[in-house]
Amino acid sequence: MKITYFGHSAFLINSGKKILIDPFLSGNPKCKIKPSDVKADIILVTHGHEDHLGDTVEIAKNTGAKVIAIHEIQQFLLKQGINAIGMNIGGSINVDGIKIRMVPAIHSSSFKNGYMGHSAGFVIHLNDGVIYHAGDTGLFGDMKLIRELYNPDIAMLPIGDVYTMGVKEAAKAVEFLNPKIVIPMHYGTFPVLTGTPEEFKKLVKNVDVLVFEIGETKEVNL
Ligand code: NI
Ligand code: MN
Repeated sequence: MKITYFGHSAFLINSGKKILIDPFLSGNPKCKIKPSDVKADIILVTHGHEDHLGDTVEIAKNTGAKVIAIHEIQQFLLKQGINAIGMNIGGSINVDGIKIRMVPAIHSSSFKNGYMGHSAGFVIHLNDGVIYHAGDTGLFGDMKLIRELYNPDIAMLPIGDVYTMGVKEAAKAVEFLNPKIVIPMHYGTFPVLTGTPEEFKKLVKNVDVLVFEIGETKEVNL
């Protein structure tokens, strides 16, 4: 599969279908890629905060992508004329032959001060591997259950601190999840997010830490 990083928590996974996660591009001072340049079949939104919902509406309108989100965000997107599919924490759906499960995240969720349900993470079951995108979250012990039940090959984990886990907690999450590859995210976008991939790498043992430049695409073979 090919993975492209757009900065913050935004990734495009291309494994036949193009799956875009948390497309926060135009608001990201570090990201030069325009929403109009991005193609997607499926967009996953972990929660309502602007740095995650981001450019979802524009990209979904441009591309006709289906948007997968928690019920409250789905309702919001339907009002914008978006083809949105709702779900909730613990459940799974099949979209275009890809099984997508919504898992817990310990974090709030709102949009323009309106209630947006809970925050979530996603487990994406591709033919060539299982990916866990944690969304925004603090460390929680039930990441061990995510490992036991879904055995992710790739974990995308926030490391920036303040609004999510910092590097120490994210390194503990790697222990809980034991993926083959971990990709740090949600750092450096704003000065307040102080965790760095260099510090994170020092704390992670026996798991490959894959660090992306913003806009970089890597071919990932498991
Ligand atoms: Ni958030
Ligand atoms: Mn965030």
